[in-house]
Amino acid sequence: MAVTVRAFAKINLTLEVLGRRADGYHELRSIYQTLAFHDRLRVEARPRGCEIESTHAELERGPANLIHQAWRLLRLRGAKGAKVWVEKRIPLAAGLGGGSSDAAAMLLALDRLYRLELGLPLLLELGARLGADVPLFLIGGTVLGVGRGSEVYPLPDLKPAPVVLVFPGFGVRTPWAFGALPNSLTGRPRTHKILSFAAQEASVYPELVNDLEPVVGKRYPVVPRIRGRLLELGARQARMTGSGPTLYGLYAGRAKAVAAARALRRSGLQALATVTLARRELRRRRFGSS
Ligand code: C5P
Repeated sequence: MAVTVRAFAKINLTLEVLGRRADGYHELRSIYQTLAFHDRLRVEARPRGCEIESTHAELERGPANLIHQAWRLLRLRGAKGAKVWVEKRIPLAAGLGGGSSDAAAMLLALDRLYRLELGLPLLLELGARLGADVPLFLIGGTVLGVGRGSEVYPLPDLKPAPVVLVFPGFGVRTPWAFGALPNSLTGRPRTHKILSFAAQEASVYPELVNDLEPVVGKRYPVVPRIRGRLLELGARQARMTGSGPTLYGLYAGRAKAVAAARALRRSGLQALATVTLARRELRRRRFGSS
């Protein structure tokens, strides 16, 4: 018995850090958007244990992997063992939520494989224990995240928008990025018409924000440089995603996005064109190997 599940990447259309919390985390307000770009997990039933294999040499195989932690949580809820093959495409520590998405996919795969029928509310709670970015992947599409980012609400989906991703080629540790924020944080509270995001084409969005981008950009000047390149190459909006260092550009048309990704690759950068993925489409594509 086996289940194959796709684990989609995300970008943060907005990421605002509102304050520091007593639990050491930061109070966030973020609009997440899932992408068609994905990892793939094949999860096979085993009598006991959790064994992880991957196409990616650097992927942690032991208990530190969130996939393993997801299994440990569901073992307490009736799941038996699992052997997991991870086809890893989403770069590690890139701001695209790859590890969190793999964990969410593992929760869903085990729920299906062992017919646990845990239901979305419980899966959301278990996901939040694994990491702040896990629950958004259980919802998918355009998602509002508040609190640590793990309290998630589905927003009306955006119209599909072409996206170019550029990976600067190194990882950023999320705790470092949050720790590097100035004491004043961003200082000025902003009001957002969050629902206007959903009603409009991605390309005519109001200015997108990421409060972590200035601190990561200061340490890694390549970040603002790549953002400039994306805008030069016709992106309507460009931002860093999450704690970085991946940059994304939103494009008005697929052909423009594909051409921009090609131009970036020619200049030696790691870049690809993908598209935003709405909730219904994500749920349709989640299971199965096609
Ligand atoms: O929840 P997760 O384990 O993904 O968070 C990783 C780290 O990112 C936390 O240990 C914390 O340093 C930082 N973080 C934060 N505020 C958040 C989310 C993450 O400070 N809302």
